[in-house]
This record gives sequence, C-alpha cells and structure tokens, in this order.
Amino acid sequence: MPDNCMPVLRIGDLEAVLPIVQGGMGVGISLSGLASAVAEEGGIGVISTAGIGRGEKDFRSDLKAADERALRSEIRRAREKTGGILGVNIMMALTDYDDLLRVSIEEGIDIIFIGAGLPLRLPGTLTLEEFRNCRTKFVPKISSARAAEVILRAWDRHFGRMPDAFAVEGPLAGGHLGFSREDLESGNQDLEDILAQVLSAVSAYEPVYGSIPVIAAGGVYTGSDIYHMLDLGASGVKMGTRFVATTECDAHASFKKAYVDCRREDLVIIDSPVGLPGRAITSRLLSEVQLGEKKPLECIWQCLRTCDVKSAPYCIAKALTSAKLGDLRNGFAFAGANAYLVDRIVSVKELISSLVDEFAQACRAAEPALAIN
Ligand SMILES: Cc1cc2nc3c(=O)[nH]c(=O)nc-3n(C[C@H](O)[C@H](O)[C@H](O)COP(=O)(O)O)c2cc1C
Repeated sequence: MPDNCMPVLRIGDLEAVLPIVQGGMGVGISLSGLASAVAEEGGIGVISTAGIGRGEKDFRSDLKAADERALRSEIRRAREKTGGILGVNIMMALTDYDDLLRVSIEEGIDIIFIGAGLPLRLPGTLTLEEFRNCRTKFVPKISSARAAEVILRAWDRHFGRMPDAFAVEGPLAGGHLGFSREDLESGNQDLEDILAQVLSAVSAYEPVYGSIPVIAAGGVYTGSDIYHMLDLGASGVKMGTRFVATTECDAHASFKKAYVDCRREDLVIIDSPVGLPGRAITSRLLSEVQLGEKKPLECIWQCLRTCDVKSAPYCIAKALTSAKLGDLRNGFAFAGANAYLVDRIVSVKELISSLVDEFAQACRAAEPALAIN
C-alpha cells in the first residue's frame, strides 16, 4: 500500500484502516468477492442482500429461504477470505428485511447498513436488551438532516442508544435515491449542504452519547473527493460506482463494460417500481418503458413491500438480475452520476492505491507547510 495519510474510520469499537466504505450494491453486484477484497485492503466491504437468493436453484419455489441461505453463505465465504471489516446492506423495503437482519446478526456481521426507509422500530426480532448489547453496528442510510433528526429522536426516546453512524447519500449517487425527481433534475440539493446539516443534527446528541460518525456518499470518485468530504467533517466516505469497475466486483463482465462504455448522456433518472427515483445507465428495457411499454410481469414473490405489482411496468428484481448476469438489454445497470468517468477495470488493490495517492496529493496541496516538514 502507498504512503497512507488517510485517517482511520472508527465505528464504535471497530476501526477500519481506511475511511472508505464500499456501498452495498444489488442485485448481486457486491457479494463476497468484492466485499472481501475491499475489507482485505483496509476498507469496509459490504454485501448487498437485495435479491441475493435469486442465484439459488429453488428461488422460484421459496425465495425467502433462498435469500437466507444465500446470505449466510456469502457472509461465510467473505469471512473465509478476510479478517477485515464486513457489512451487509439491507433495504427496509424488502419483505424479508427482518429475516435478513436476523441472519446477518447470527452470522456475526460487523455492520448492518439500513437503506430505503427510516428505521424507527427495533431492528428485526431483537428485544431492546439484545439491541442495546448487540456487537453488530447499525448504520442508517439517509438523504436529509430531517431523516437524521427523526431517527435520533426516536432512538434516544425509545432505545436509549444512537445509531453507530449515519451514511448520508447525496443526489449524485447510483441506485435508488432519497430525493424527488424534481430535486434531482433541478440540482438544487447537494451532498455538501446535507452533510453539514446532518453533522449539526448529530452534534446535539454527541455530548450525551459520544461520537456518531457521518459517512458521505454519492459522487465520491477520487482521493481528492475523499479529502474534500473529510475536510467538511465526514468521518469516511461510501463509494459504489468506483467499485463496480473492479475485477473483483461480482457482476458479469458486460455489466462492468457498460460502465466503461457509458457517456454522460447515457446516465438517466428513472422512476423505479420500488416507488423511488433511481440513477441508471439507459438500456433498451428502460427506453421501451419510457415510451410506455409494459413488460409481462410474473411475480414469483412480492420481494418489495413497496412494489405495486399490478401497475409496475416491469419486474425490477428480474431486470437487475438479468443485468448482473450480463443481459443489459433486458435489464439495466444502476450507476452513479460519475460513472461516465470510468475508463477501465482495475483491481481493488489498484483502485485503493490510487485513491490513497490522490488523497495524499490533496493533503499536500492543502497543507504544503506540513507536507515539507
Ligand atoms: C449498481 C448499484 C447498485 C446499488 N444497489 C444498492 C442497494 O441495493 N441498496 C442500497 O441501499 N444502495 C445501493 N446502491 C447505492 C450504493 O450503495 C452507494 O451508496 C452509492 O453507489 C454511492 O454513490 P456513488 O455510486 O456515486 O459512489 C447501489 C449503487 C449502485 C451503483
């Protein structure tokens, strides 16, 4: 590893050598391969649980059992490959959210990133006592200070504990986004402002509960971007797009190639059947849906609470699984606003090394006197 002047990222008693979290990416984009490679390099590797069971033989007959089995085996596989810090990403909108949470805790996962919803009740089937003593860390993903305030107030009142950190995702991120289409298109929201507001919301609780790290995500692309976010007060960053373009990413080569090939104008905002907007690389499927086509939809299991099967123009789980397997015509790839900058696939080691180098350069540029001494 090159000279590393990045600070460590502390989440409770966990200490990541690098302040870099690899964002959980479904369906099947970040599994044990990518997560273990990132954790092994000193970052936090995250397995995405969305649609994780779709690769199992029996997924058509019992997707819930397939999800649990696949998650268990991905966590174990990752653990065999690294002693580093591993997390999972679970969307509250998933029908089997509670089960995936339970399995992750049973498997001793270090961190659970909770997305697509506000976690205001006890996670999974945990009792209050178990929740308070759980060694697994809980990190809600939010897109506004308002969401942070609601969570902080509820956890303070009902649980007497705080989230172990927050992941703040801005409008440039890939995947589903916690903003309205209007906000995304007008560009009147930015990560920097939201980060500052979340830091302020969190600071009100820190005198009582101690430090609550805030991790910034969405559009973080270079080591200099990481420096910028830490300079603004973030304790770490979460990056998705950069990690798709790695050898270890668990997606098919064609999925990664879509990143290398895409141009700025290919990145579009879609209205996902999940009920949220999302950012993706346009594809034949997305263009046809845009023109009003409705794809035959066979729902084997209502995997998302929020999906209205009757009106959904296509099955998002099927589309994302097709893309993961390399069929980018009948599926599509979620991607961050900076995906058009990707020009090649590198190893996780190379990527981390370049981020560390760029970060060091940004440090030197910002504090030349310190760099000379
Ligand atoms: C291909 C892809 C799939 C994603 N899937 C999920 C997901 O299943 N759940 C989730 O909470 N976030 C998901 N995300 C968001 C990432 O975890 C991360 O927060 C985001 O990519 C950060 O923005 P960046 O791509 O600009 O780095 C996804 C992002 C991408 C690019």
